[in-house]
Amino acid sequence: MLARATAATPWGIEAHPVQVEVDVHHGLPQVQIVGLPDAAVRESRERERAAIKNCGFDLPPRAVVINLAPADLRKQGNHLDLAIALALLAAHGQLPQEALAGRLICGELGLDGAVRSVRGGLAIADLAARMGVEQVLLPAPNAGEAAALGTVPVIAVAGLADAIEHLLGLAALAPVAAAAPATAARGPLPDLAEVRGQEAAKRALEVAAAGGHNLLLLGPPGSGKTMLARRLPGLLPPLTLAESIAVTKVHSLVAEEPPAGLLTERPFRSPHTGTSTAGIIGGGPIPRPGEASLAHAGVLFLDELPEFRRDTLEALRQPLEEGMVTVVRARARFVFPARFSLVVACNPCPCGHLGDARYRCRCAASAVERYRARVSGPLLDRIDLHVEVPAVTLSELRATPGEPSAAVAARVAAARRLQVERFGTALAIPVNAAMSPAVLARHCAVDPAGRALLDAAFEKLGLSARALDRILKVARTIADLAGGGPIRAVHLAEAIQYRTLDRRVAT
Ligand SMILES: Nc1ncnc2c1ncn2[C@@H]1O[C@H](COP(=O)(O)OP(=O)(O)O)[C@@H](O)[C@H]1O
Ligand SMILES: [Mg+2]
Repeated sequence: MLARATAATPWGIEAHPVQVEVDVHHGLPQVQIVGLPDAAVRESRERERAAIKNCGFDLPPRAVVINLAPADLRKQGNHLDLAIALALLAAHGQLPQEALAGRLICGELGLDGAVRSVRGGLAIADLAARMGVEQVLLPAPNAGEAAALGTVPVIAVAGLADAIEHLLGLAALAPVAAAAPATAARGPLPDLAEVRGQEAAKRALEVAAAGGHNLLLLGPPGSGKTMLARRLPGLLPPLTLAESIAVTKVHSLVAEEPPAGLLTERPFRSPHTGTSTAGIIGGGPIPRPGEASLAHAGVLFLDELPEFRRDTLEALRQPLEEGMVTVVRARARFVFPARFSLVVACNPCPCGHLGDARYRCRCAASAVERYRARVSGPLLDRIDLHVEVPAVTLSELRATPGEPSAAVAARVAAARRLQVERFGTALAIPVNAAMSPAVLARHCAVDPAGRALLDAAFEKLGLSARALDRILKVARTIADLAGGGPIRAVHLAEAIQYRTLDRRVAT
């Protein structure tokens, strides 16, 4: 007898439908799985047999063929166990085939029949909704994220026995109610008021948040670079629903525990300098998102920039330019979103104290040069704002707290609204940093006083044409923070300041 069930397998951050077909006939008792299963799927037949047996069913010895369609799609991991087990029961006549119709079923089975969580629950629910199925059956730990969208009824199953009773109508389970989207498990974000002094760096952080600019912080250890970077997510506007869904889908693929609902905070990722290129960009035998994708819609912070592998930094060019990462495998091309604000921190020299009045730097000139040369030029080229973060003085540390994040975030939000109005749909992401040359020419007119200032900077600082474009974008953001009028000389003067480290770091 033939039985069918619908399941899904991860596909990048999305899920792809898989039809499970089970045929049982008289013949040599053996179980064959066909249709490009990976090792985990091939091993699943043992789990399914044991789970079924431990739920009190006795399957007679028969020849079993399990076909997974489409045949050219590589099926990964443990998502198909539950659907295969249920289809096996139906093919043996122990469950009516109609019970499986109109449902999408995913879950890993334990030998005792327990249903264990799978990765990517939200993506599976999203797929189920698009397919128009009546119900999606998922492991109980995945139910929170899956129900968050509210687009498809989600049935949470703890074990194979639950699923069987539900499908037989013996003990129907009610769909899980959507959790409130705000699952602020991390508590309050760190506040900018905790950072004493560093007014120039705080201002640069505000400009970065307002215009979507990338930021380089240069300064000795302990001056507050990491503190500052951590406070950027709290200055950015709240996630949109679409961003929140994308962030949850990415994190659901790597998290030890499935998220309890939609993630609503902008991510902050700070990978260690020793992280492999695949760990940062994404990849692996089963393609997984890397830090660049885990930082999607949030902040990627590269502390001690020169310590990162050069090829890793070079590989960041794709996400920085396209807002995504593609991982190519023999039969597939996976796309992971990776649009983040980049903040990098860098010591002025290997010991960190070059230019610090209170410590003597003992680095040889050649060592300083080598250290700085490790910073990839193409990466630096994509960073609009460079700012020095000098060692904090005692009087600064004793000073009263500065402006709280909420006040800065309000100005950022106002500046971002102006950009949305200005760019409409002309830019994929409506921020000044994303302006193409044509858009830049339209929106960044400069008056004669400003032009004179730019010309002087061009000569004096030896700026490139590209650096001039950068200055214009940053000046546009500074003007937007000031209410959105035309770019004036004061705005340009501030923007030019954020380029003066160019030669110090790059050469
Ligand atoms: N500007 C500052 N205001 C208040 N505390 C600071 C400041 N700079 C450094 N600190 C203190 O020093 C610690 C280390 O700062 P950190 O941000 O890690 O410095 P960096 O990243 O520049 O090496 C912080 O946890 C904080 O306690
Ligand atoms: Mg640090």
